[in-house]
Amino acid sequence: MKLNLKIWRQPGPTARGRLVDYPANDISPDISFLEMLDVVNEGLVKKGEDAIAFDSDCREGICGMCSLVVNGIPHGPDRGTTVCQLHMRRFKDGDTITIEPWRARAFPVVKDLVVDRSAFDRIIAAGGYVSINVGGAPDGNAIPIPKDVAEAAMYSAACIACGACVAACKNASAHLFMSAKISHLGLLPQGQQERFRRVVAMINQADSEGFGSCSNEGECEAVCPKEIPISNIARMTREYVKATMRR
Ligand code: SF4
Ligand code: FES
Repeated sequence: MKLNLKIWRQPGPTARGRLVDYPANDISPDISFLEMLDVVNEGLVKKGEDAIAFDSDCREGICGMCSLVVNGIPHGPDRGTTVCQLHMRRFKDGDTITIEPWRARAFPVVKDLVVDRSAFDRIIAAGGYVSINVGGAPDGNAIPIPKDVAEAAMYSAACIACGACVAACKNASAHLFMSAKISHLGLLPQGQQERFRRVVAMINQADSEGFGSCSNEGECEAVCPKEIPISNIARMTREYVKATMRR
């Protein structure tokens, strides 16, 4: 395949960025999107040019590192997948593909396509711990949990903290991410002790990081590679209201 790539290049956090055209020739439809960028980078390095900086780690949809906006869509055109799971057969010979970093004030660009997502780490840290008894593994039936509750907590735990929900949201809201974490911990009996303190601390931290509010657009749910539902946001809002009324 022959492709025309338009890739965001930005030498550093305070430098001015711009889209640069890169022709990519002889691209196999069987390679992944990130492997295609590897091929482009090999060509740039051979010519003595600066390689395009982008993040990745697991390359199998687990770590949440690959933060690319492809043709305007965080993680690209396929639903329920990360960009590292996207393959070049999804595109046609001759296509123009625009590749940009996440765009949000709370995720500043480090270089090219790499953004600093440490704001998410600080939100998780603000959420704090869960009080559980350490020691030997408890008996499997010692804490009965209804199946629907266990499944809802499990689905929420699937969030990989990638930040696509923020990148897709016109408000750059972190609500889907936070609601996944809050549902994951707050639904289970083990997470009850700190349940109300947690939701207030995480939302306050998100506000101080510069994330916006939720206006129920649903863009976050549409791009989430783990298909976290926005019903979690409604649960988080209820938790927050209950927490503030208890003060
Ligand atoms: S909610 Fe979805 S899009 Fe947002 S950080 Fe978690 S996995 Fe990524
Ligand atoms: S590189 Fe780990 S999820 Fe994409």
